[in-house]
Amino acid sequence: MTADATAPALRIGPHTVWPPVVLAPMAGITNAPFRTLCREFSGGKGLFVSEMITTRALVERNDKTMQLIHFDGSEKPRSIQLYGVDPVTVGKAVRMIVDEDLADHIDLNFGCPVPKVTRKGGGSALPYKRNLLRSILREAVGNAGDLPVTIKMRKGIDDDHTTYLDAGRIAVEEGVTAVALHGRTAAEHYGGTADWEAIARLKEHVPEIPVLGNGDIWSAADAVRMMRETGCDGVVVGRGCLGRPWLFGDLVAAFEGGGAPAAPTLREVAGVMRRHAGLLGEWLGDEERGVVDFRKHVAWYTKGFSVGSEMRRKLAMTSSLAELDAHLADLDLDQEWPDGAEGPRGRTAGSKRVVLPDGWLEDPYDCSVVVGAEAELDTSGG
Ligand SMILES: Cc1cc2nc3c(=O)[nH]c(=O)nc-3n(C[C@H](O)[C@H](O)[C@H](O)COP(=O)(O)O)c2cc1C
Repeated sequence: MTADATAPALRIGPHTVWPPVVLAPMAGITNAPFRTLCREFSGGKGLFVSEMITTRALVERNDKTMQLIHFDGSEKPRSIQLYGVDPVTVGKAVRMIVDEDLADHIDLNFGCPVPKVTRKGGGSALPYKRNLLRSILREAVGNAGDLPVTIKMRKGIDDDHTTYLDAGRIAVEEGVTAVALHGRTAAEHYGGTADWEAIARLKEHVPEIPVLGNGDIWSAADAVRMMRETGCDGVVVGRGCLGRPWLFGDLVAAFEGGGAPAAPTLREVAGVMRRHAGLLGEWLGDEERGVVDFRKHVAWYTKGFSVGSEMRRKLAMTSSLAELDAHLADLDLDQEWPDGAEGPRGRTAGSKRVVLPDGWLEDPYDCSVVVGAEAELDTSGG
């Protein structure tokens, strides 16, 4: 794929993002260690968003949440994604971030499809309630001071209840800085292919603000193609980075016109795995917890390599860095990057029934918040 050095930088309020590439917020994944790895490969270029933070847990200073909002000292701008369903709580959380200088950019999650979120009218269910969405955005922008507020959403609940065009217009009217669209409905979950035409349609619908495209970018070439085919102003890359933080190096090279970095051998991948596990341990303040948290990344890092099911199992049960080192040393480390590592990775399961609060679809303009909507949520999700 040819490079597209002509793409302009992405403007998110006062922040200039070049290349126009954003690491998608992913709960349980895009914590400070993973963002650090991605930033190292990109040479610090791009924007790297935290995993989703529940506004209620933030204003209540939940211990786990306070850890999740940790940014490495070198992260600039610090992007935090908030989840909330109650305008007042969202406003308080944003005010807290501003007053305590906790971030430089706030993204709001209106895309999460998981039942524990949509059941309460949150995430991808929320934009259906146009006035509630407007109230949340008004509170967020009104409390954000100079911090830019962006939103990330899906196309809607299902094909009969799309919301993204209305939500984009409301976002413009309420002073949101940019909108990101994942080209799937909540009902589609992660199945099928993302609808990039919807991204193009949103771009035409809200020419006033940057539109970021999201969904099914598995390579740097896909990112350049999405920009060209949809006219979007930037791309948001999620699952393509799972077990593959060096994709950010490929993305920078593609946009800057440099040659693509060589794909890593298994030896190099093992080095990144070790570093990732070590960083998680430092971040959690406990080596074992770090290595245990790292287990979920093993299958993504080793995808396509000839590793063997027994070794994969051992790697996914490791409890210390020494054990991890020993297993990694046992691999056939001279393997080249395999074709089987390309393409989709991470969640790909399709169509699910979207669980909604009773009567949710009856009145798109009703503004009531579901009672206790955030109370039962733990600190993160996605
Ligand atoms: C494990 C996982 C966790 C996610 N967590 C969040 C989240 O916290 N906030 C959010 O807006 N989207 C979340 N998403 C959705 C991604 O940000 C992204 O929109 C989606 O994966 C589609 O992009 P992709 O095809 O590049 O993966 C999550 C996705 C995955 C796979």
